[in-house]
Amino acid sequence: MKAIKIGNLAVAVPIIQGGMGVGISLSGLASAVANEGGIGVISSAGLGLLYKDFSENYLEASIHGLQEEIRKARDKTLGVIGVNVMVAMTNFVDMVKTSISEKVDIIITGAGLPLDLPSFLTKGSNTKLVPIVSSARAARIICEKWKANYNYLPDAVIVEGPKAGGHLGFKEEQIGDNNFSLEKLVPEIVSELKLFEEKYNTTIPLFAAGGIYTGEDINNIMKLGAAGVQMGTRFVTTNECDASQGFKQAFLDADEKDIEIIKSPVGMPGRAIFSNFIQKVRDGKKQPKKCPFKCIKTCDIDKSPYCIIIALVNALKGNFEHGFAFAGSNAFRATKISSVKEIFQSLKKEYKESK
Ligand SMILES: Cc1cc2nc3c(=O)[nH]c(=O)nc-3n(C[C@H](O)[C@H](O)[C@H](O)COP(=O)(O)O)c2cc1C
Repeated sequence: MKAIKIGNLAVAVPIIQGGMGVGISLSGLASAVANEGGIGVISSAGLGLLYKDFSENYLEASIHGLQEEIRKARDKTLGVIGVNVMVAMTNFVDMVKTSISEKVDIIITGAGLPLDLPSFLTKGSNTKLVPIVSSARAARIICEKWKANYNYLPDAVIVEGPKAGGHLGFKEEQIGDNNFSLEKLVPEIVSELKLFEEKYNTTIPLFAAGGIYTGEDINNIMKLGAAGVQMGTRFVTTNECDASQGFKQAFLDADEKDIEIIKSPVGMPGRAIFSNFIQKVRDGKKQPKKCPFKCIKTCDIDKSPYCIIIALVNALKGNFEHGFAFAGSNAFRATKISSVKEIFQSLKKEYKESK
């Protein structure tokens, strides 16, 4: 796998570890990936809950938590560190501004179109801006709006296809439809980005995500034009992953049939490992009693069957009576816990062998 540049940022191995909230990818996993030459990504979702001892004020605790995680990661690695921020989060702007003031290398946005993201860059800032999209249309809208309003183009783009874990940028009926497969989307988005690259004499590398599990998968998607990949699921079953043993065990225990599409209160479908909690929600047994943090812009507590942030924190701790684990379509393939170093070694070997 060849080294790659994102603007002036050198990345030794073109693998981004996808940001995984709540608390699944923090400084531990991100720094381990960065130490192997990939891009390690801290999830900024729900940090206010994980750092509630610092302040009962969710917004304050979130800012403090992100500062702490970035600093801890920097202490453990000289490699490339990014932060994942979801556009749908009510504290999106806080998390973006904190990432920039802490000088993270990259901000990666998911769950929505980050149309005003470049407006938060400060003078002299070197933080790269990388949106996640699910269509060529979304990539085009972001490029056009950023260029027109801020004279800025994305430093790279990530396309997340329907096999990814977590929230999916597709309608439920599109998820199994081959017209929306990652293999279909990659060439479409490469052509779209090429128009901007040629017009403005720049490069916008495309990273592909969703269902990439082996080095052979990486090779296959790169043949379709991707410059690199983003992977989430494969990094969950590592020693360095910041989740509890119980969360990782859910991945080891899962069969293919346990990985399901669920409706999330965020208003998007999501892919997760079936749990007793999910069954209770389907049976109509779960009702949120209150909305303590108003963490997601699009979540309406009166209509939501549960509070997603609390469900995800419960899952982080391994409590699947009151939570569920997001997981990619390949989550059933893990058979043991490995080190991040071992994962990189096997990805490189598989990649080479499939050449
Ligand atoms: C447990 C879990 C949590 C995730 N949380 C987030 C998140 O907070 N923000 C985001 O943009 N993507 C999130 N994702 C998506 C990943 O960053 C990544 O793009 C995706 O998992 C790639 O597909 P793969 O799991 O098949 O490799 C999550 C995925 C998983 C498995």
